[in-house]
Amino acid sequence: MDTFVIGGGNRLYGTTRVQGAKNSVLPILAASILNGGISEISNCPDLTDVTCTLRILRHLGCEAYRDGDVIYVDSSGMNKNSISDRLMREMRSSIIFMGAILARTGSAIISYPGGCNLGARPIDLHLWALRELGATIDEVGGYIVCKADKLVGKDIYLSIPSVGATENIMLAATAAQGTTRIHNAAREPEIADLQAYLRAAGTNVTGAGTSTIQIEGGSRLRDVKHRIIPDRIVTITYMAATAAAGGEVTIEGVEPQHISAVTSVMREAGCVIREERDRIHIRSDRRLRAVKPIRTMPYPGFPTDAQSPLMAVMCTAEGTSVFVENIFENRYRCASELMRMGADIRIEGRVAVVCGVPKLYGTKVAATELRGGAALVIAALGAEGESEVSGIEHIERGYEKLDVVLKGLGANIERKTVSVPEE
Ligand code: EPZ
Repeated sequence: MDTFVIGGGNRLYGTTRVQGAKNSVLPILAASILNGGISEISNCPDLTDVTCTLRILRHLGCEAYRDGDVIYVDSSGMNKNSISDRLMREMRSSIIFMGAILARTGSAIISYPGGCNLGARPIDLHLWALRELGATIDEVGGYIVCKADKLVGKDIYLSIPSVGATENIMLAATAAQGTTRIHNAAREPEIADLQAYLRAAGTNVTGAGTSTIQIEGGSRLRDVKHRIIPDRIVTITYMAATAAAGGEVTIEGVEPQHISAVTSVMREAGCVIREERDRIHIRSDRRLRAVKPIRTMPYPGFPTDAQSPLMAVMCTAEGTSVFVENIFENRYRCASELMRMGADIRIEGRVAVVCGVPKLYGTKVAATELRGGAALVIAALGAEGESEVSGIEHIERGYEKLDVVLKGLGANIERKTVSVPEE
């Protein structure tokens, strides 16, 4: 139950390196059960979500361990096809294992992934698509029992370009007879990274990054070596921290084109941003100004995961900024905590109106989910006085050593261990 104690007002200076992408390593670790062999995956961030995924792989009978930023998986010994309720509750994105377990074993039993703080997080598209490929799916007492004696490839038309559903279909389709085409597929860079892993394993999959992905099933798969792409949302978070606190920071190991939609908004706000091949340099040396409405959209639109971090920045910009959250139903949870710091935010359903105030004031705030927690840290860096952010276990699901990185850039941030009183 640790907290971050942050003394606001320090500008950030220096260079840091971004971690590998959480939302890429998770589906690729699920995919590592497909080849029944070795996967050597580098640039893996050290996150609680990744640790949980390694626990799931070991629960399924695989060998899975980390050596620095490299994760080794040997899935030859896989001997289970079920994921317990406890493991599923630890991380709802474990739903991504369903397609891979089904492809490897012909049946998968997983418990219903609960909703989360972002909303209901339905999986109807995942289940519908697997039925389209020939699976039978029964929901029995909170468990999803998925069976497929034979998966047959076909054209699948997604009503929403769901990232998770696209990934689940790609993984299941590797074992389907014939060709599977996913129409209205998600176009996120993490999908292209999953495709790169699958192609390295010997699957004939093409089209990732476009709205139509084609998978030829039935290939014999081989051992894989793969390097995870940079985390675009963590890159944006470091940029937002610099924008809010002021200063001049270079972030290395990034893919600038993955964050173009956000970079243009931050330039509009007044940040000076220079992009190079694999690094981005941001300077913020004056009060920022409000931007035109920010509407979250599927990639390559403005990412929903960047909405809270950018809201934290716009709280002290000059003028009024409007956010429209089109992806998740409950993604303004951090707004009430920002208001405790003095922010002027009005929420009307999917719309948040942020009237910039001259400054925020440090106080005790509570993180309740990953990106909203990052937003509270960002706000605290630029606030006057000391803040204490509790609930950092939410933040550590997606950010590797965020306090160490920010301290390295000159932030006044300390991790405080809060001892839980004995019962
Ligand atoms: C992935 O979640 C990411 N998580 C999310 O990042 C990200 O916000 C999201 O994609 C959108 O980019 C991982 O990759 C592990 P979706 P996912 O399926 O796959 C609805 C973070 O902070 N939907 O694209 O769950 C859904 O409710 C996390 O790192 C259905 O209705 O997102 C949402 O409104 C948060 N039925 C929309 O689609 C379904 O069967 C997009 O969800 C599936 C989704």
